[in-house]
Amino acid sequence: MYRIASTAILALVSALPVAAQQTSDILAPEPETQVMQDFPGLSNAATAALDAKREGRPVEADNWMVTAAHPLAVEAGAKVLREGGNAADAMVAVQAVLGLVEPQSSGLGGGAFLVWYDAQSGELTTLDARETAPLAADPRYFLDEEGEPLSFMTAVVSGRSVGTPGTPRLMEEAHRRWGRSNWRGLFTDAIELAQDGFTVSTRMAESVAAAAESLGSFPATADYFLPGGAPLTAGDTLVNADYAETLRQIAAQGTAAFYTGEIAADIVAATRTDALPGLLSMTDLARYQVIERPAICYDYRGNAVCGMGPPSSGAVAIAQILGKLENFDLGAMDPQDAQTRRLMGDATRLAFADRGRYLADSDFVPVPVEGLIDRDYLARRADLLRGDDALPEVSAGSPEWDHAQIWGDDLRQERPATSHISIVDSDGNVLSMTTTIESGFGSRIFVRGFLLNNELTDFSFRSHADGWPIANRVEPGKRPRSSMSPTIVLRDGVPVLAIGSPGGATIIGFTAQTIIAHLDWGMNVQEAVMMPHLVNSFGTYQIEADTWAEDLVDPLSDLGFQTNVTALTSGLHAISLGDRLQGGADPRREGIALGE
Ligand code: GLY
Repeated sequence: MYRIASTAILALVSALPVAAQQTSDILAPEPETQVMQDFPGLSNAATAALDAKREGRPVEADNWMVTAAHPLAVEAGAKVLREGGNAADAMVAVQAVLGLVEPQSSGLGGGAFLVWYDAQSGELTTLDARETAPLAADPRYFLDEEGEPLSFMTAVVSGRSVGTPGTPRLMEEAHRRWGRSNWRGLFTDAIELAQDGFTVSTRMAESVAAAAESLGSFPATADYFLPGGAPLTAGDTLVNADYAETLRQIAAQGTAAFYTGEIAADIVAATRTDALPGLLSMTDLARYQVIERPAICYDYRGNAVCGMGPPSSGAVAIAQILGKLENFDLGAMDPQDAQTRRLMGDATRLAFADRGRYLADSDFVPVPVEGLIDRDYLARRADLLRGDDALPEVSAGSPEWDHAQIWGDDLRQERPATSHISIVDSDGNVLSMTTTIESGFGSRIFVRGFLLNNELTDFSFRSHADGWPIANRVEPGKRPRSSMSPTIVLRDGVPVLAIGSPGGATIIGFTAQTIIAHLDWGMNVQEAVMMPHLVNSFGTYQIEADTWAEDLVDPLSDLGFQTNVTALTSGLHAISLGDRLQGGADPRREGIALGE
């Protein structure tokens, strides 16, 4: 737990250095990158919120705000907040609906990390609901008989990739600690939508079509997503009676109904696939626990940027990126200049080199968190950035560390699925939660109306590199390393920003850029989440297609970077807390911000 000095709720955000003028004109993605869609039956407020997003404006409110990846989920959360529930209550309602209407990204079968600012105590708490490896697994879990790694997608689409889900227990734990609404009532909207049917969105339909082949691997999955053998299409009405029944049981009995008994037995049975069966057991489910961990905070130019520590690499990597960049006057630099992007790109590459060597589940391996975010260490790493050209190569550094172990490097990249929820309630509590089933549709195994994760493929498949053990190797009960970066930023102990994104390994770059855009370049949250992405985690500069970022391909190539123009589908959902609340929803996804 990280104690914040002040318990004041809302602070006046002081004037920030602004380099970019007329940011919304120059930084918005082109319209074709924006998801434009009408959702039937939305409230007037949600329709207005969609309009604000289309026009590049933040949604403003005075009392509460919720932002997430689907309007129906946001409306469910807004209803809870309007009726006097708090941010923990609203999160339960949002997650229950997201698992239905955005099943490809998160749900009961997955895991999540949550950062909570408590207005009354001024304390920050982080909760780890990451999936766990089966107790029967060992470091050879993803190796074949010759000791070579299994084919990645073969492992993903199988029972082997499924870890013990953490999301249901996180919903319950957050509600137990902080919630005040009746638990059962938080599932009403999701149950009704599942029972009566909801309209399949464009994004869900496109995701189903893109994954149709793998969704056909398991009969129950194919029956739901490919009815009659054809992918669902946008506008279809989809009923999920099994999900309604699962939620009814959780609503009535708590998550014991999920982690023990018939639902747990069905989950375990579903992972025993013909090819590459998993080793998950009823014991794994019954013993699953959410773990409270210390928040990782880095003071960036007077802002405490706080997030989730190991097994996530998110907060450490973001702290490392910011801690290197604070050695340069970023606020005076142009976001569209290649030198600005050289610094940001190589700062990110250096952070990923450290991540590959040191970051893993700290309950299983010692992780030198303090050394990695030490200001002097980061200043030394920043010295590497003082040239004019791209770094020809990067490698892990040597942070201060009281441990003899040397690790091998692991460059596993998490897949770009996942979802992010940010909520501020009328008491001033702030919630930032990133939630996932790993890749789109997870393991593709559908049971009891929800998909099971493939989170275990976030482990290194190899157990060793260059003769050294890899910190992020599989071990029984261990949690795979993540990039998820739910973040709350505080100034003088008072929250000023809640933010996070999906995007696999690119989550870190998406979130760091958006924090910089808001804090250093003075953009409001909607402008900041709209800004085109340029991310360099592993050596190739990924540049968002169909945006002004493409103009930087030649200048960055001239500096020595390899470049790749591609879709960079973040799903940033952010709330800034100042004179008023401002909510931003990523135009690359279907979500909205809603507040009153
Ligand atoms: N599975 C996405 C992440 O944990 O980063």
